[in-house]
Amino acid sequence: MPTDLPMLVGGAGDFARRGGQLRVSLTPRCQLGCWFCHNEGEIPPRITHHDRTIQPRRRALDAADFLSAINAMTSAGIRRVFFTGGEPLLSPLARPILEGLPAHDRSDYTTTLITNGLTLTKDLDWLAATALDRIKVSLHYFSDASIAAIAEGKPGDIARIKAGIEAAIDAIPVVELNLLLQEQNAHEVMDIIAYAREMGTGLQIIELVDTDHNQLSVKVPSGGISAYLRSIATHGEVITSGTGQGRRVFTVPGARGDMTIEVIDASLGRHHVGQCKRCPKQEQCIEGFWALRLDSAGELSPCLLRPDLRMDVTPYAHDPAGLLAAISAHLDAFTEGTL
Ligand SMILES: C[S@@+](CC[C@H](N)C(=O)[O-])C[C@H]1O[C@@H](n2cnc3c(N)ncnc32)[C@H](O)[C@@H]1O
Repeated sequence: MPTDLPMLVGGAGDFARRGGQLRVSLTPRCQLGCWFCHNEGEIPPRITHHDRTIQPRRRALDAADFLSAINAMTSAGIRRVFFTGGEPLLSPLARPILEGLPAHDRSDYTTTLITNGLTLTKDLDWLAATALDRIKVSLHYFSDASIAAIAEGKPGDIARIKAGIEAAIDAIPVVELNLLLQEQNAHEVMDIIAYAREMGTGLQIIELVDTDHNQLSVKVPSGGISAYLRSIATHGEVITSGTGQGRRVFTVPGARGDMTIEVIDASLGRHHVGQCKRCPKQEQCIEGFWALRLDSAGELSPCLLRPDLRMDVTPYAHDPAGLLAAISAHLDAFTEGTL
């Protein structure tokens, strides 16, 4: 890992201090086609599956480029790295990148793989030998019928996903589930909460983040679920500090002891900075200034809804210090509203 890199100053330093995250999209491709998927700002798989002429941008980074950028940014203060996609485990780069992660202390930063869980049983052996700290499995459904309604998945998927979750619990330091509230799964939300409690995994319940691609359904607010969780919780708190949306954090009894269920609640507010003041997307923006996104096309984005504010990182493939300086300048301009 590079050690002689400058600390990020200004915007990027602020971002690290506020607890922001780096989301690294390894591929825009996915086996599923969830109706709501924002695909971290890339063309959603559902659209490409239905019209092959609409394709995401081409890959421009290799595994070494990704690792160099990730190591530079963690050295400079980014505290949470998420590997996402598309489905990250579909990428041929997933294994070399995750196997190339340096051993690190979780108090310095954490690394999390977000996955639909479909190939977990196959990939767990090599995943368990990496420096990955956490796996987060999306579980927005609890039956094959709901997968069909939400994700355009193939029959039999839910058994495979649950087998992957259950195997991962024994192989990976931390396993969590992730559930997006929507009309299509309202009848299964209590089953998914009960499953998380039975497995003893943490659970994050999230509300829909609107993008231009997912206006097909009514947004389901989290207030009702929070009321239920409050009734079974031994402790609850509201966290609104830092970047990202506010969240309610409940401690509830699970089969393996106390566990955490976290509810993202847009009504608690979000974090906006200088650029947001005159952003034409602000009305629509649920997420605010929260996650830096690095994608396989070699671009880094300061927010989800403004692809026009992406920055090209490919000139810095062999220049981590130059990369940090360029990101820092880009984020300074974003937080000052001059980008
Ligand atoms: C884009 S997915 C990619 C990773 C992986 N394929 C998966 O299914 O988890 C990453 C995360 O974004 C969440 N997500 C996608 N679109 C969303 C939206 N419109 N609102 C809120 N969360 C969303 C998913 O639920 C998932 O937890």
